[in-house]
Amino acid sequence: MHPLKCSRNIMDIATLQSLINDDMQAVNALIRKRLHSQVALVNQLGHYIIHSGGKRLRPMLLLLSARAFGYQGTHHIDLATVVEFIHTATLLHDDVVDVSELRRGKQTANSIWGNEASVLVGDFLYSRAFEMMVEVQNMRVMEILASATNVIAEGEVLQLLNCHEPNTTEQEYLQVIRSKTAKLFEAAAQLGAVISQQPPSYEQAIATYGVHLGTAFQLVDDILDYSANSEEMGKNVGDDLAEGKPTLPIIYALREGSPTQQQVLREAILQGGREHLTEVITAIHSTEALIYAKQVAQQEIDLAEATLAKLPESPYKEALYALAQFSMHRNY
Ligand code: IPE
Ligand code: IPE
Ligand code: MG
Ligand code: MG
Repeated sequence: MHPLKCSRNIMDIATLQSLINDDMQAVNALIRKRLHSQVALVNQLGHYIIHSGGKRLRPMLLLLSARAFGYQGTHHIDLATVVEFIHTATLLHDDVVDVSELRRGKQTANSIWGNEASVLVGDFLYSRAFEMMVEVQNMRVMEILASATNVIAEGEVLQLLNCHEPNTTEQEYLQVIRSKTAKLFEAAAQLGAVISQQPPSYEQAIATYGVHLGTAFQLVDDILDYSANSEEMGKNVGDDLAEGKPTLPIIYALREGSPTQQQVLREAILQGGREHLTEVITAIHSTEALIYAKQVAQQEIDLAEATLAKLPESPYKEALYALAQFSMHRNY
């Protein structure tokens, strides 16, 4: 915690949620309705992943952004549903690619129904999201979401290219997380301003907030992958190492570690798997790599909060500060 940052009274999460409670209930009802398909397996698998919980952070961001700009229509509900569908589609695909077995505290869909079903239901969710975004009949909305989805896919492919590659740089890593994660946060935040017909300066400010929030969010996710409690996080610790993913804790430890540590880390990334997990965690701790990664995440949060300062005062803006603090200090 930064003692110097206590000048602002941070809203608690319960107050944040109560501000958008009605909107969120409408989103959850729409999710249930639009998840429906004639094909039983789509319903079964779709229902399983969507109703396993999940923090609903991206819809929350879109709703808060729209409300911070005084939006009074209903498209924020549609678009919050769209971003959650896109997010869920990426998770179904991601768990296949990452060979993950635990998500949201439950067995992953791929470990129950297999890779084929997970990929195909992920495609269903993507295309349902596209049907829904067209219904909003706003060309800019479609542009933002179509391009965000495309950048996310590029980010995932870029990450695949970095796998088992111990020479991956911090710069390359940042490019991956800005694409695969921060882009959807950016789009969610920006859409709130677009549907509220805000001037470019506000639209840009909230989009920039989204990029920095999303970047910090993934940095924290990558820290938790080495430090969290699997039960609390709802995902298995060590999944990134198992896939040979060079995330920032590894990149930093490789840069700062002793020659022996560097050799262990290189080997672990090249081979993947979990055999080296204990040694890798030891190297990460002794180089203080998690402290470094937290500093980088905190810098992103500072940038996110600095851009919020440009927006008009409202309880929703206070909630956006709270969302930034939650993303930084979360443990799930
Ligand atoms: C998981 O996102 C994927 C990342 C970008 C790290 P969340 O942590 O928001 O997943 P849910 O929706 O809450 O399960
Ligand atoms: C996030 O990366 C993936 C997407 C943006 C789809 P991770 O692979 O770290 O996400 P988790 O940890 O599996 O949720
Ligand atoms: Mg994953
Ligand atoms: Mg992760």
